[in-house]
Amino acid sequence: MPRLNKTGLLAVLVAASSAFLLFQLYYYRQSSNGGNTSRQKDNQWEALRRVMAVARKLALPIFLADPTALSLIGQTGGSAGLGRGCSFLCTGRPVTAFAAIADHWKYDRQAVATVASQKGLEVEQVRGRDPRLLEEGAELSAAQIPLHFLFRSTHGHIVQVVLLYQRSGGYLWHAPLRLAPSADRRLAPPNALPYGRHAGAYRRPDLVLTMLDGLDVQVPRNSSHFLTLRSEADFIECRHKEARAFYQLYPEDGSVEAAEFRRAARSVLSVAARTLDSLNVPFWISSGTCLGWYRQCGFISYSRDVDVGVSIRHYRPDLATAFASAGLPLKHSFGRVEDSLELSFQSPGGGVKLDVFFFYQEESEGVSVVWNGGTQAKSGRKFKYVFPSFKLCWAELAGVRVRVPCTTLDYVRANYGHEAWSSPETAWDWKTSPANVMENGVWPRGDWGQVIQSY
Ligand SMILES: *[C@@H]1O[C@H](CO)[C@@H](O)[C@H](O)[C@H]1NC(C)=O
Repeated sequence: MPRLNKTGLLAVLVAASSAFLLFQLYYYRQSSNGGNTSRQKDNQWEALRRVMAVARKLALPIFLADPTALSLIGQTGGSAGLGRGCSFLCTGRPVTAFAAIADHWKYDRQAVATVASQKGLEVEQVRGRDPRLLEEGAELSAAQIPLHFLFRSTHGHIVQVVLLYQRSGGYLWHAPLRLAPSADRRLAPPNALPYGRHAGAYRRPDLVLTMLDGLDVQVPRNSSHFLTLRSEADFIECRHKEARAFYQLYPEDGSVEAAEFRRAARSVLSVAARTLDSLNVPFWISSGTCLGWYRQCGFISYSRDVDVGVSIRHYRPDLATAFASAGLPLKHSFGRVEDSLELSFQSPGGGVKLDVFFFYQEESEGVSVVWNGGTQAKSGRKFKYVFPSFKLCWAELAGVRVRVPCTTLDYVRANYGHEAWSSPETAWDWKTSPANVMENGVWPRGDWGQVIQSY
């Protein structure tokens, strides 16, 4: 019996010490992880403190634009960062992003380099042509503006500062980030930089100065709103170079009538944008207006109207009233909300017509497509125009901020033909010319009073 007891005791001892060893091992791993995280946090915090000191010294008005940090702030309602430790700014990501509205900032390349190095930071200054000069038709202007700064601390934390500029459409714009081949690749870990895969367009954010993790930081007042804007900010510059080549081949119509059309079209587009924006109805430029933007960065002067598209999900019954108050009363209404809706507006003095086409989504052979309808008033014939589905991007046409299908070329090709879109076609018939037009039956006589209305 005593022998058995001895063995039992030994077993208990072995089990106990193994458990103790395992516990120690577990505890050690936990604390060493914790140590790493807190060192990483310290490094990130220190890099941010330094970059903020650089910005202060250069009078560059930066604000926090980092998606991870802003979503942390959003989750707590922003009553943040008064506690101990670095809970909002230290995201554990390799990059932290700020933005700066740089319109009135006096840039000095040498000063940026000097101040950064005084604070122990490496800096890459990404510069490029000023698109606001391209808008005005300046040829290959030499003016370069700063577009992005990438700061790197000695511990390897990267801070991106994306510079925003006001464009004539009244929004803030930033450039895509294109690193020079000579640039230090460590400054741009693939897919880690929050800004610059595409150009972006933003409304001017409302900023507040906040104490976050012991640092005074400007932050968008509504961080979730800012993140929503970011998720739909992609911007496409119009193709200035191709437009110039187009006008070389097909010189712009210099007649008084053509100039008058372009002026009136710009005015109608601007009223449409203001009205739809104020109702939060997203729209994109469609048909000939989209073709004009894509092909020649302008209106096609022999077209007679301005065309926009709106998803039927965003239809609102008060649209007509809103347009009427803005000086564009309803002239025609074709179709109905469930099918082929199209509204035309025109100022009482005649002039340029605004066509609002509503787009419907459907599956075609397992592929998601969108389509809009057309109605011939005198015969009740229906037409259907099918497009590959698309996401929306921001763009600018004639100084007005608009949206276009991000895959603009696919959209234009569907509508105007794979190659045919690239040259002018003045003999255009909306019922037969479009590459994607289809006959879609006839409205029953009894419905005409409802689906074909003129005012
Ligand atoms: C902040 O923005 C979100 C998303 O745009 C919005 O739903 C929310 O109402 C806004 N909050 C405030 C306080 O304005």
